[in-house]
Amino acid sequence: MPELDVCPPEELPPGRTKIVRSGLLAVCVYNLDGELYALEDRCSHDDGPLCEGDWDPDEGVVICPRHGANFDIRTGEALTLPAFEPVATYPVRVEAGMIKVELP
Ligand code: FES
Repeated sequence: MPELDVCPPEELPPGRTKIVRSGLLAVCVYNLDGELYALEDRCSHDDGPLCEGDWDPDEGVVICPRHGANFDIRTGEALTLPAFEPVATYPVRVEAGMIKVELP
């Protein structure tokens, strides 16, 4: 299964994010209070750069910078219009001192 190396865990403390790329795919990894989540950096509404938007680490919500749709960082679920489709999420794990994202 393909995977992406993100960074060592100490470089992504709680409240921080990091975008990694593989070809045309961009994935954003969020540290929500010590739990890691990975979302595709592409809004399901109109392909906006989702992870450049503001996000709330307490609520686990990211706000698309283009038209303002809110998404659940943990599940990718669209919480508000104009988006209604989820964004892709990916499994994240830490192995041998590196955060890794599993790609489909
Ligand atoms: S592109 Fe994200 S809300 Fe429209």
